[in-house]
Amino acid sequence: MQYTTLGRTGLNVSVAGLGCGGHSRLGQKTGRTEQESIQVVRQALDLGINLIDTAEAYGTESIVGKAIQDVARDQLVISTKKLCPDRESDDPSGELRRGVEHSLKRLQTDYVDVFYLHGVRAGQYQYARDTLLPGLLQMQEQGKVRFVGVTEAFIPDPQHSMAERALQDDCWDVMMIGFNFLNQSARQRVFPQTQAKNIGTMGMFAVRNALSRPAHLKKILTELRNKNQIDPALCEMPDVLGFLTDMGKAETIPEAAYRYCRYEPGLDSVLTGTGSVEHLKENVAALLKAPLPLADCERLAALFGQVDSVSGN
Ligand SMILES: NC(=O)c1ccc[n+]([C@@H]2O[C@H](COP(=O)([O-])OP(=O)(O)OC[C@H]3O[C@@H](n4cnc5c(N)ncnc54)[C@H](OP(=O)(O)O)[C@@H]3O)[C@@H](O)[C@H]2O)c1
Repeated sequence: MQYTTLGRTGLNVSVAGLGCGGHSRLGQKTGRTEQESIQVVRQALDLGINLIDTAEAYGTESIVGKAIQDVARDQLVISTKKLCPDRESDDPSGELRRGVEHSLKRLQTDYVDVFYLHGVRAGQYQYARDTLLPGLLQMQEQGKVRFVGVTEAFIPDPQHSMAERALQDDCWDVMMIGFNFLNQSARQRVFPQTQAKNIGTMGMFAVRNALSRPAHLKKILTELRNKNQIDPALCEMPDVLGFLTDMGKAETIPEAAYRYCRYEPGLDSVLTGTGSVEHLKENVAALLKAPLPLADCERLAALFGQVDSVSGN
């Protein structure tokens, strides 16, 4: 495994992080047993992954809690998150603080390294910062949360509107950002600013559906053609991404997709979400391979560099 520093947190994190959400939720959404999901986490640890991302909403915190029982806590970096409580509720800040306590119980730990406000929309941002963040900072003072962060809702916000707004402030230690070769827009809109402010970044959506299921990619290409964000001729090509795997340059499209994200300047750790031990091993191997050939990266920029309307979901 290779490790890097998660921005201003100074935390030493693996360049591959285990995502416990997404469409797999460690396999809990795809029919795996709890024991099988625990095995995925344990395999991640065996591969040298020390960064594990989960959330109340995924229902996987307790699985992570069980899987990490034998591991020295200071060898792990755990991030979790909570969706913003309804702003009309009586005590949203208290609800958030209680949410942190519940996460700690499920994770069977005394603190989380990064606590994120989960999937914040641009329209919620001010509320999140002014009403919810103070509650998180109280938890930080009590030692229950080491660093605070915000994750974007990449599916409805593939243009990074919330992240751009959050980057005008200086209160976030870490941000979770959607990035893949179909939507490269974080390269201009997010990463230069996170680097300038030394905000740590975790990448999500490296593969998602679009780059793991060819039929889904076709649907997305049609959507992009209708929005005039790609050359219409791409929709007629039988194998648009074939050049990535020509002559064994990459073995699979998911491999190419993870390798692409791994070397993006400003992206500290790339999350991989899976319920399969085999996929996990492949994905970690991919993240540890060399960058894609420069010519392929240039071609991906030419093909998709204008896209900012899809997440790849
Ligand atoms: N707003 C937010 O805060 C937010 C939103 C989304 C995600 N996240 C975080 O980011 C993490 C990463 O996102 P993600 O889980 O969507 O990750 P991802 O790694 O981009 O995509 C995972 C999907 O690809 C499949 N896959 C993985 N490896 C594969 C392989 N080698 N070959 C074929 N298919 C493969 C998985 O299915 P299999 O199970 O079959 O491998 C799964 O459906 C999440 O787990 C979560 O922790 C946060």
